[in-house]
Amino acid sequence: MRKRVTKAIFPVAGLGTRFLPATKSVPKEIMTLVDRPLVQYAIDEARAAGIKEFIFITSRGKNALEDYFDNAPQLEQELRRKGKDDLLEILKSTNMDSGEIAYMRQHKPLGLGHAVWCARRFIANEPFAVILPDDVIAAEKPCLQQMVEAFEETGGNMVAAMDVPDDKTNAYGILDVREDMGNIVSTKGMVEKPEPGTAPSNLAVIGRYILTPTVLQKLNKKQTGAGGEIQLTDAIDAAREDGEEVYGYRFRGQRFDCGSKSGFLQATVAFALARDDLRDDLWSYISDTVHAAKAAQ
Ligand code: G1P
Repeated sequence: MRKRVTKAIFPVAGLGTRFLPATKSVPKEIMTLVDRPLVQYAIDEARAAGIKEFIFITSRGKNALEDYFDNAPQLEQELRRKGKDDLLEILKSTNMDSGEIAYMRQHKPLGLGHAVWCARRFIANEPFAVILPDDVIAAEKPCLQQMVEAFEETGGNMVAAMDVPDDKTNAYGILDVREDMGNIVSTKGMVEKPEPGTAPSNLAVIGRYILTPTVLQKLNKKQTGAGGEIQLTDAIDAAREDGEEVYGYRFRGQRFDCGSKSGFLQATVAFALARDDLRDDLWSYISDTVHAAKAAQ
């Protein structure tokens, strides 16, 4: 029987310079989409997919992340005393059990591959997931859950995939497709951030992965790739060269690039419009603004 995926690595060591000055003192992953930190969406998605152990790769200045996942007994007590049961429930739903979350520091920013490699001692001979919290995916069935279900059929390595415009290939890992089976493609290569015009396809890797321990072995070599960084893409492709399968999975859902300001704002609007308590107000604000802008033209 195929081994279950129960561990997920969350690389959160990045400096988040695109969100300065906010990220001077607030880790990017704590910034909120409506009222929940970015990282909470990633944790919820992982849990829905059956993940039991959460491994964070952090860096200097990310202490607020650890505090966020700690229990808040004083706050809980206060809410209980005031009878604010609904808020108490929200608060409790973010608690992590002791021992289910681990933090490991990446001491030098050597790339995504290196960040994942930092977690190697937490992973035994088993498949594991990687979630990049910057990629937020709104979906009826959470993206990683879709992938875990597909992985139960295929095994091998699996990356979330999405078609991107020709001129955007240099922002992503791009798949060289061997066979396109619709939701799933098999690959014969993977390139990190190819310049437009040189990319093997338009199918880009989005920040959800299910990987074999072979990928960690490949990362042991610490080979640098695009941008002088140790790339996860290269290690996955090296596992394929060794005979493992690497599949791209076209997920059902809408992906927001919350590593960019525009993506973050779009996600904020989308998630707010999905909320019963905010939809009407926000919608009338948006339509009033659009009407006013049209009238002024
Ligand atoms: C990383 C990966 C890239 C992937 C992307 C998805 O790049 O290296 O292969 O396509 O995430 O968001 P980054 O966005 O960290 O530069």
